[in-house]
Amino acid sequence: MELSNSIQIPQIGLGVYKMEAGDEMNNAIGASWDAGYRLFDTAQMYRNEAALGDALKFNQIPRDEIFLISKVDNSNQWYQPTLDSLQESLKKLQTSYLDSFLIHWPGQNKERMLSTWQAMEHALEQGLVRSIGICNFEVSQLEFLLDHCKIAPMINQIEHNPLMHDEALLSFCNKHSIQVIAWAPLLRGNFGTDTIPKLAEKYGKTEAQILLRWNIQQGIIPIPKSKNPGRLAQNIDVFDFLLEPADIELLNSMNENRRTSHDPLTFDF
Ligand SMILES: NC(=O)c1ccc[n+]([C@@H]2O[C@H](COP(=O)([O-])OP(=O)(O)OC[C@H]3O[C@@H](n4cnc5c(N)ncnc54)[C@H](OP(=O)(O)O)[C@@H]3O)[C@@H](O)[C@H]2O)c1
Repeated sequence: MELSNSIQIPQIGLGVYKMEAGDEMNNAIGASWDAGYRLFDTAQMYRNEAALGDALKFNQIPRDEIFLISKVDNSNQWYQPTLDSLQESLKKLQTSYLDSFLIHWPGQNKERMLSTWQAMEHALEQGLVRSIGICNFEVSQLEFLLDHCKIAPMINQIEHNPLMHDEALLSFCNKHSIQVIAWAPLLRGNFGTDTIPKLAEKYGKTEAQILLRWNIQQGIIPIPKSKNPGRLAQNIDVFDFLLEPADIELLNSMNENRRTSHDPLTFDF
């Protein structure tokens, strides 16, 4: 797939939230590389950038064959702290550039948002990052950013699964060539007992595979997290079947606007 500035991005990635340093991270990164993952998503907030950097080195993964994402922590927002924190992230990840750097949370302070975004633009212009974006931005926050930015965001990473999806936000992102990345695409492992298991049975696939196809068929990049080699392999083995349109609709109809995190329009860190 391609971002709006023409750089390539894989169709699926691995999220490493809550993955622990040492054997857990080393083994998960090794197994995911073997299974075919080429996109890795971390954040300053996860406190595991150094562990991911070590694991990439431990597994001798070539830097230029992967797409590495990190995110500026809320406590590091504003212009200079954002740039300083990026340098820290690069050091911890043992790399000279990120493939994408994202604002982790929009926040309610518009001045802070723009100051942080200007730092992201500067990092892009300096070649420290190959693309820039945001997370958890709602339409009104995107409109404000687009009205005031020099460079438009290439990515919006949002919670996106059948229980939590927003058609208006998706179409806004599509219209403005902002690639959506789905976090919590596996509903954090809670598949329920009805629709998703029934679809898994119908297609002869696992519940996780059904959920990942639902995102992929909408042009959205899911970043499921797993530390388990069997699940890692299963989660990327999703390119040999198609969900029928009626089943995509069935999954859409499960929407409860149920967030596992805070409301980006009101909450601030
Ligand atoms: N930008 C943001 O604000 C934001 C917020 C949250 C998360 N994220 C990113 O999104 C990534 C994914 O989200 P997430 O970690 O919250 O949730 P998720 O990917 O929906 O779910 C992860 C959970 O599902 C389990 N799991 C994985 N594969 C499975 C399978 N095939 N069958 C059954 N269970 C399975 C995992 O356990 P095992 O590890 O034991 O397999 C883990 O407990 C994060 O790691 C992070 O990188 C971003």
